[in-house]
Amino acid sequence: MSQLDNKVAIVTGAGSGIGRSVALIYAKEGAKVVVSDIDENGGAATIEMIRKNSGEAVFLKSDSSSADENEALVKMTIEKYGALHIACNNAGIAGESAPVGEYSPEGWDKVISINLSGVFYGMRYQIPGDVKVRRRSDRQYDFHSRKGWIQKCTGICSCQARSSRLNRNSRTGLRCNEHTH
Ligand SMILES: NC(=O)c1ccc[n+]([C@@H]2O[C@H](COP(=O)([O-])OP(=O)(O)OC[C@H]3O[C@@H](n4cnc5c(N)ncnc54)[C@H](O)[C@@H]3O)[C@@H](O)[C@H]2O)c1
Repeated sequence: MSQLDNKVAIVTGAGSGIGRSVALIYAKEGAKVVVSDIDENGGAATIEMIRKNSGEAVFLKSDSSSADENEALVKMTIEKYGALHIACNNAGIAGESAPVGEYSPEGWDKVISINLSGVFYGMRYQIPGDVKVRRRSDRQYDFHSRKGWIQKCTGICSCQARSSRLNRNSRTGLRCNEHTH
């Protein structure tokens, strides 16, 4: 039995690099993988690699910087596979490299919208809003605890930084961002 048998995973930015590697590993471990990216060719190549190894995967095009597209991605995943257990919100860009005084506001906004807002939008729709579970052990985090909440605006940074620990609740078993950020 593989570690992820009967699990359903979304991996964003899975059309290349780290996201592709994560998608391949999830599939190898038995998960049904939703490969998501804005790059259709990259996504198709990832799907081909997974299927070559007898894995199960589907490509769904989605722009991580769009709240609506993140919502649609979760809906389509559940329509296709009936559940969502794992999410790896990996899509990101390096952005421009320039002195602060020359850095373009558009370039800044783009990085923030994909690398920061994209992670939030992902979790916003992947984690059910009505989750109410008790803390059962050190390994089962309670979404009523601070780790699953965004505490006013400044909390968003600590939320992302801690997302590697914001990983599981006992009712849905959903894991988020265990492998990135
Ligand atoms: N490679 C590194 O050394 C490194 C270091 C630190 C952080 N990271 C982060 O890890 C993640 C993956 O990095 P990588 O090296 O594999 O990069 P990569 O460029 O190889 O892959 C990123 C993928 O994200 C996709 N993508 C870009 N914008 C998107 C959007 N708006 N919506 C959906 N998909 C989008 C791209 O098409 C690409 O397939 C990124 O978030 C990156 O910022 C990487």
